[in-house]
Amino acid sequence: MKSYEKLLQSNKDWAAKKLSLDPEYFSRLEHIQTPEFLWIGCSDSRVPANEITGTNPGEIFVHRNIANVVVHTDVNLLSVLEYAVTHLKVKHVIVCGHYGCGGVKAAMSNHDFKQVLNMWLRSIKDVYRHNRQELDAIEDLDQRADRFVELNVVEQVEKLAKTSIIQKAWKDRQAPHLHGWVYGLNNGTIKSVYEMPADISKLDPLYVYDDL
Ligand code: CO
Repeated sequence: MKSYEKLLQSNKDWAAKKLSLDPEYFSRLEHIQTPEFLWIGCSDSRVPANEITGTNPGEIFVHRNIANVVVHTDVNLLSVLEYAVTHLKVKHVIVCGHYGCGGVKAAMSNHDFKQVLNMWLRSIKDVYRHNRQELDAIEDLDQRADRFVELNVVEQVEKLAKTSIIQKAWKDRQAPHLHGWVYGLNNGTIKSVYEMPADISKLDPLYVYDDL
């Protein structure tokens, strides 16, 4: 059996098992989508949102990219954010990074990853630059990378708060609550590193829209 055929076979087994436990499982899911959470995570195959949070299909709306970055010109991410926040009305948006993130480590290096990846990593390099004093002071390179992962998550949460999508939702319904988490590949546990409640006063006034 070819590797991809195993996926199709596993899918058949999974669907049959679900149905045997609950004959209405798929017909119920087909007609409702009311997730409470939007997850913005890294594309890394070792950080599957549902599995590590013990959630089921229907519970988390998911966007993933390299190093869980919020880029204000990324139409893909902004479409997901708009749909999740404005239409699905999620209560929480979680940016979840992970220790040992290859994208973050790449942004720390001086290696040329060629144009497209260089462009993607550039905004992560900016996070390093904004926190250069703290990061340069950490001698151990693995520890420095770990702290960089945490600071990257903080930055991305703040970038969410700078969007008019989030600010409008905060004004209209005092939600969603924003969370910055980091997952440990070595122990499977998630650490909360930053929180931003639906409170515009926590944001630099320069970025606050006053006519939403
Ligand atoms: Co990663």
